[in-house]
Amino acid sequence: MSLKIMSVVGARPNFMKIAPFAHAIEREDDRIEHFLVHTGQHYDPEMYHSFFEALNIPTPDVDLEIGSGSHAEQVGRTMIAFEKVLLERRPDWVVVVGDVNATCACSITARKHHVRVAHIEAGLRSFDERMPEEINRMVTDRVSNLLLTPDELSGENLRREGAEEERIRFVGNIMIDTLEAHRARAEALDLNDILTSHAIDPDLKTPVDDGSFAVMTMHRPSNVDSREVLEPLVRCLREEVASKMPLVWSIHPRTRNRLETFGLWDELLADDRLILIRPVGYHAMLKLNMSARLMLTDSGGLQEECCVLGTPCITMRENTERPVTLVENGGVSELTGPDPEKITSALDTFLNMERRGHRPPLWDGKTAERIVTELENRT
Ligand code: UD1
Ligand code: UDP
Repeated sequence: MSLKIMSVVGARPNFMKIAPFAHAIEREDDRIEHFLVHTGQHYDPEMYHSFFEALNIPTPDVDLEIGSGSHAEQVGRTMIAFEKVLLERRPDWVVVVGDVNATCACSITARKHHVRVAHIEAGLRSFDERMPEEINRMVTDRVSNLLLTPDELSGENLRREGAEEERIRFVGNIMIDTLEAHRARAEALDLNDILTSHAIDPDLKTPVDDGSFAVMTMHRPSNVDSREVLEPLVRCLREEVASKMPLVWSIHPRTRNRLETFGLWDELLADDRLILIRPVGYHAMLKLNMSARLMLTDSGGLQEECCVLGTPCITMRENTERPVTLVENGGVSELTGPDPEKITSALDTFLNMERRGHRPPLWDGKTAERIVTELENRT
């Protein structure tokens, strides 16, 4: 009889984590039956479908279509809808990835029905409980039967919290499986084609050259949800970064909403030094990252991709659940939070920094295979 695995995705950063896992399962032929659930937290074509096409992820067997809402609305709607699917299919394992609301909602639901849960990317901790993802990480890890960790520090975090040794397996970083599988395809893209096809301003003319621009993403509520933080941050980005080199900014829908609400959008559009683009596909982002002189971000996934690619990375956060990416641990990232002074000072250092890739143990492109073997061995 084949092993029945139900895996769950909800938002953009989950898609690059599930792709190599789904492909590793496909290579097992008939030994594993895979059922993919998308909770529908991210639903715009550029936040969802484009990744399924580009990364060749199987179409979800079910889309719960929970959409946007408060945390309680998203988690509650997901639990109600997911429970029905779970009881219909009765899998041997539910596999969740990352730290979004889908991860937390589906892991709790599965355990309450005595279905085993495996968490890919277990043990990351920012130790900042104001961050919604930190709550998702703690809850998911507490209820998961199998904790699949991306690095050695994550294992230590779990042991400190009392997780039993047999639940923890160090398997490496699955994001890097996707990066390695798609590096060559990304490299072949044309930088300026990416910008013109995604530009929010249809009259964009500024061409950029390899190594001569900065690229940015930003979507953390702590950076974008209050005017008191966002306004000085945006001013600093324009005056300190965009004054030195073109700044390519992939705008997340949450951030665009806030910029419009706070009346900051039109002045950004009018600034020729900024190249505002709609969210780009996986390969385009990888190409921008490989070609940029500098990354500015508050994204977890981008901190990791910069680490392997060696792109100097100003991390606009006060803490990180991914300390392995920091300069003091051999990586290329420095924490500045949204503080204009710290960003300016990091910029001075980072503009003189060479690209220097760093590959932590088991960030080797083979994490998905190790996970599938682990699941099969535990059945
Ligand atoms: C979510 C995750 C976050 C992750 C981020 C990746 C949680 C708690 N947060 O944050 O960990 O880093 O995704 O991008 O799970 N919206 C659209 N179209 C979409 C999706 C969202 O317009 O397809 C807009 C809606 O106005 C929505 C807002 O973006 O209210 C925020 O979306 P939501 O999914 O609640 O949180 P994210 O900030 O995307
Ligand atoms: N990403 C992308 N296009 C974009 C911005 C990000 O493909 O316009 C990719 C990025 O390269 C990484 C992933 O999305 O693979 C990270 O997701 P996100 O920043 O949305 O969430 P986080 O990692 O912070 O949870």
